[in-house]
Amino acid sequence: MDRIVIEGGAPLRGEVAVSGAKNAALPALAAALLAEGEHSVRNVPDLADVRTMGRLLGHMGCAFERTGGHAVALRVPAAPRPEAPYELVRTMRASVVVLGPLVARLGRAQVSLPGGCAIGARPIDQHLKGLAALGAEIELRHGYVEARAPGGRLRGATFTFDGVTVTGTENVMMAAALAEGTSVLGNCAREPEVVDLAQALRSMGARIQGEGTDEIRIEGVERLRPLDHAVIPDRIEAGTLLVAGALPGNDVTVRGCAPEHLEALVEKLRQVGAEVRSVPGGLRVVGDGRPRPADVRTAPFPGFPTDMQAQMMVLLTVAQGSSVVTETVFENRYMHVLELRRLGADIAVDGRTALVKGVPELSGAPVMASDLRASAALVLAGLLARGTTEVQRVYHLDRGYERLEERLAPLGARIRRVKA
Ligand code: EPU
Repeated sequence: MDRIVIEGGAPLRGEVAVSGAKNAALPALAAALLAEGEHSVRNVPDLADVRTMGRLLGHMGCAFERTGGHAVALRVPAAPRPEAPYELVRTMRASVVVLGPLVARLGRAQVSLPGGCAIGARPIDQHLKGLAALGAEIELRHGYVEARAPGGRLRGATFTFDGVTVTGTENVMMAAALAEGTSVLGNCAREPEVVDLAQALRSMGARIQGEGTDEIRIEGVERLRPLDHAVIPDRIEAGTLLVAGALPGNDVTVRGCAPEHLEALVEKLRQVGAEVRSVPGGLRVVGDGRPRPADVRTAPFPGFPTDMQAQMMVLLTVAQGSSVVTETVFENRYMHVLELRRLGADIAVDGRTALVKGVPELSGAPVMASDLRASAALVLAGLLARGTTEVQRVYHLDRGYERLEERLAPLGARIRRVKA
């Protein structure tokens, strides 16, 4: 297993470009199942999770090919095999977004239930309830969701999610695109990735309105054409790089990000004393001295993203005072705290709340990544800490960041990957 070794304390200066969004690329690729033919998706990051989606689509009989740059060509057959096996779903929960497209287009699907997860229980009851509202008959058997559309086609319906779910909204929206009649979905996720998926579906001929608000209206059509879509920039990768820029003594420009997707984070960075400015094509952040403390509460978009909680906490570990972090989206997303403590951070967790007492500095140590965003936080902590930090289990990081060490090194970071 690869490790990342960081000599902390080197100032970061310069520009870094952001990749396409993992969490927008995955549902867009799944959406391709809604139409037979040759699909084109651009700005698809080259990540472990995207490769898993490629394998999953391959298992169904689709041909997934990178055609240079970050473009993907995908050929979807007339009758894909409507099955997502456990071996693939267990390595990537987001595989569940194939369920809606499969049952909508083929009238049946068999998708493994995702297993446990490091950050919370993460049930998919809302995905299933939404699909059932569209007429799907759903059974759970041998660890699989078996869904059928009676008569081969789903029916439009009005459905309100009990809680805000990003992939749940995406799954049901994709299914409704091919259902007979109109669907009105309430309490939808408003995340930019949902908006991007609506745009991708529109390129296929879907009739969707209201994405980006909590009510999405979809007029089902009989047939869709292949996708022609470019994925939005990754706001979480951009946010991670912005936090790197906000660490004391750094000055980083993140190019190609969408500032309108980053407002909650930028506001927090300013609150802790970082200078964040719009520059042509991106954002520049200057971290000046030890940050001020700030309270952070995660929430669905446009709130502060749970996917940035761990990274923001790193900045707060060296603040001049105490901060309270509250995680409201996932029930167990503090796995990074134990590792940050090994670097000298003073953090106490009580349920969903973490009290972070700022210390003057962190000191490098070997640490272990537990999930994707926790690993990114450990890399940031390594940049900040005095001495050497070695991050193990880097495969978590590689699921969602394209060669992060190669993006940080040109900025001046002393960071390298040690191959297993
Ligand atoms: N939930 C339910 N029932 C459901 C669905 C969700 O109770 O049927 C709960 C979850 O357990 C959680 C909350 O609702 O407590 C929100 O979960 P959501 O469904 O929104 O999460 P997700 O769609 O599984 C996506 C991202 C995550 C990101 C969350 C929240 C993708 C592929 N994944 O997950 O990204 O943290 O939204 O914004 O889009 C990551 O990239 O590292 C990552 C974990």
